[in-house]
Amino acid sequence: MKRVPLSSSNKGKPSARKTLANLRTGLTYDDVLLVPRYSRIRSRHDVDTSTKLTPKIALNIPIISANMDTVTEGEMAVALAREGGIGIIHRFMSLDEQVAQVRRVKRTESIMIESPYALGLDAKLFDVRKMMREKNVGGILIIDGKGKLQGIITSRDLRFEEDLNAPVTSVMTKRKDLVVATWGKTSIDQAKKVMEDMKIEKLPLVDSKDRLRGLVTAKDILKRKEFPNATKDSKGRLRVGAAVGVRGDFLDRAKELADSDVDVLVLDIAHGHSDHAIDAIKKIKKTVSNIELIAGNIATPEGARDLIRAGADSIKVGVGSGSICITRIVTGSGVPQLTAISDCSRVAKDSGVTLIADGGIRNSGDITKSLVAGADSVMIGSLLAGTDESPGEIVFRGNQRYKVTRGMASMAARRDQLEREGRLKGIKGEMQNHGEEDLSDYVPEGVEAIVPYKGGAVSVIRQLEGGLRSGLSYCGASSLRELRSNGQFIRITDVGLVESKPHDVITEL
Ligand code: XMP
Repeated sequence: MKRVPLSSSNKGKPSARKTLANLRTGLTYDDVLLVPRYSRIRSRHDVDTSTKLTPKIALNIPIISANMDTVTEGEMAVALAREGGIGIIHRFMSLDEQVAQVRRVKRTESIMIESPYALGLDAKLFDVRKMMREKNVGGILIIDGKGKLQGIITSRDLRFEEDLNAPVTSVMTKRKDLVVATWGKTSIDQAKKVMEDMKIEKLPLVDSKDRLRGLVTAKDILKRKEFPNATKDSKGRLRVGAAVGVRGDFLDRAKELADSDVDVLVLDIAHGHSDHAIDAIKKIKKTVSNIELIAGNIATPEGARDLIRAGADSIKVGVGSGSICITRIVTGSGVPQLTAISDCSRVAKDSGVTLIADGGIRNSGDITKSLVAGADSVMIGSLLAGTDESPGEIVFRGNQRYKVTRGMASMAARRDQLEREGRLKGIKGEMQNHGEEDLSDYVPEGVEAIVPYKGGAVSVIRQLEGGLRSGLSYCGASSLRELRSNGQFIRITDVGLVESKPHDVITEL
């Protein structure tokens, strides 16, 4: 079979196969199995599932939660990062909201909290209680007009306080009685030692002029033990990503998200092998050059090459593979996912960028297969959509509990987006105002659906991780690198697939 030459455009090249002769077969997860190999692994705890999200960002498990509005907001991102993966906050909200979600994740378990919540000397206890509730924190620092540390009030100080109109100065522990450390010169271990020795819960960090710069809390240090595999940045904060589009405010978003210390941006466009995407990658990389950029989605080696040339640090592979996608039905376009991953992985590997397999993961076996095919990590949508941490309410069908999930190119998602932006025709009146859109012109490429409610995301993530660990063991691999070199696919038939699943028994008890 002729190899498709890699080019920047399709013009005049024989890559568009117009005849039906000698067509390749595209394969996906259920078309293959991994052949079991001799294994020296004695326990699945002995395998290493760490990988790279992008060349500069490491993960302890190769799992990313999808930037969909029924999958990833702050709560999901926190859960994923604590388990060693990462969540990508979707973009179907205002810029301010998205930035707030990112900030929320960065503050959770941040060991060295920068610019901790503070109030002025004129604040009342009422203000302290309000801030504690709103920000969900147990201590507020008190500063003067120049930002100098004056004291601290903790929830314990307020426990029996009845007069909430009293000034903060009447209750706070004053500066002279506070133990502090120097900002920028205190390591996490040094801070921990001071807190242990002095038996304190909170250690404010000040600069040479005694201005408040940071805070370390015992609670956050203890959390480090609770989630030893957490994905953290160099300051000990959970890592998080956020999506941007290719139109409208995307550059402002990229900039503001970068300013809020987002770890990675995802360029979210259904057909990533396009002028739109390539222009956007170049602009984003020029504007926020320090932030790693994942770009997609693509399904061909040419697509991978062009996005990498434009500056992508990681490519996201998957066109029409997602559970809620109808792109392949509506447009007739797509490549079965395992073939797409395998094709694109050769280009990614040669260029030193990473590859994310996005969409269509239905179980842990699919994760193992996608990694053998050449992915560095997988992005998951619907499998995580039915959990407590995904946005949205539980709905009932009969006695069963479900949550709603939907394609971001579904009619429902589009309607909500236009409504949120005040651009839905007919909402503001009969006349069509500038920028208003009519949904009847919209061609959806996604559906709205329900998925069974599954409880907390952690148990779903741990099942996937556990299955992946066993998958490594079956391939005789102690790491993902070994998995890639040891893994051997065998193609199966429809009958083989029937044999792979429970059969000839009644599974519904
Ligand atoms: P899973 O199978 O994990 O897939 O639910 C999640 C991925 O699906 C993609 N996605 C879409 N694809 N139309 C599409 O063709 C859509 O409306 C749509 N919404 C999400 C996306 O790549 C996601 O990560």
